[in-house]
Amino acid sequence: MSAAAQFESVTQVFGDFTAVDDVDMTIPAGKLTTLLGPSGCGKTTSLRMLAGYTRPTKGRILIDGTDMTRTPPEKRGLGMVFQSYALFPHMTVAENVAYGLKLRGASRAERTARVEECLALVGLEHLADRKPRALSGGQQQRVALARAIAIRPRLLLLDEPLSNLDARLRVQMRAEIRRIQAETGLTVVLVTHDQDEALEMSDEMVLMRAGRIMQQGAPSEVFGAPANRFVADFLGYENFLRTRDGLVTVRPEHLLVSSSAGADGLSLPGVVADVAYRGVDLLITVVARDAEGEVTLLSDVRADGAPSVTPGDDVVVSAAASHLISIEN
Ligand SMILES: Nc1ncnc2c1ncn2[C@@H]1O[C@H](COP(=O)(O)OP(=O)(O)OP(=O)(O)O)[C@@H](O)[C@H]1O
Ligand SMILES: [Mg+2]
Repeated sequence: MSAAAQFESVTQVFGDFTAVDDVDMTIPAGKLTTLLGPSGCGKTTSLRMLAGYTRPTKGRILIDGTDMTRTPPEKRGLGMVFQSYALFPHMTVAENVAYGLKLRGASRAERTARVEECLALVGLEHLADRKPRALSGGQQQRVALARAIAIRPRLLLLDEPLSNLDARLRVQMRAEIRRIQAETGLTVVLVTHDQDEALEMSDEMVLMRAGRIMQQGAPSEVFGAPANRFVADFLGYENFLRTRDGLVTVRPEHLLVSSSAGADGLSLPGVVADVAYRGVDLLITVVARDAEGEVTLLSDVRADGAPSVTPGDDVVVSAAASHLISIEN
């Protein structure tokens, strides 16, 4: 795995606040990496340091193996799309996409060819002569992408580029960005605080909390083996219980509710507190007893074939041993 970019012990301090705290990170070349984490954890600050808009207080940033810690943004050859994808309103779509090429002294013929190519990539050839105000949000988003890609960046940096879009368009654009990444082989770094977006889009996922990296890896690795309670919580594990061997987590869809104990693995007595019908599935809340006392657990079962339980019922919650994940607190 070759590295497109590396952070070496990178710290960013604002006044007496440490926004990014001694981070080591490798961005693999030709892959889509997401920076994921709650608001304020340092995602945008990390991206801005990578782009060169903010200089780290400490540490080094390497791009393609070269130390670029002190290189200004325009010399890093990166494309960037921000949350508000500000297009130039007085320019047409084609002029917007050509803008960076013009700055770099590309010939008219070169610009025309490249603009056509990039608009085709985002499926907007037919709107080349429109002004941004005559485009939908999703179309403007695509123009911003085409503009960032036009300069053939070494790295494409996207800071929550989908957050202004409605839910349906957002899901559609996730697939678009992945397709574009795959077709161009670009290295993409995408910032998001949406775990579904990160799981669906990433080749590599970097989970941050309070300026530090909690876990990095392929989505299936991180999801399959969350390193600690924070990661598990953030990825929706919901159930945390104490056993004699320490803290354990189990996903709601792996927790069963029945009248008798399971064969192996987890088996705890409890009382049903709530049953919520959600169409395809049922969410059953059970107050159970773990090694240290009362614990509230959530079971997510398919509605067809679900146990017929009502609040107040005495039940047993169980999970197969293979679905129990030991985690650090
Ligand atoms: N220029 C600045 N001066 C002082 N503090 C800053 C500055 N920029 C960011 N911060 C602080 O650093 C922390 C990290 O900010 P950052 O923008 O990187 O968060 P984020 O992970 O992108 O959050 P969000 O999901 O809300 O965009 C925040 O607490 C923020 O208030
Ligand atoms: Mg941010």
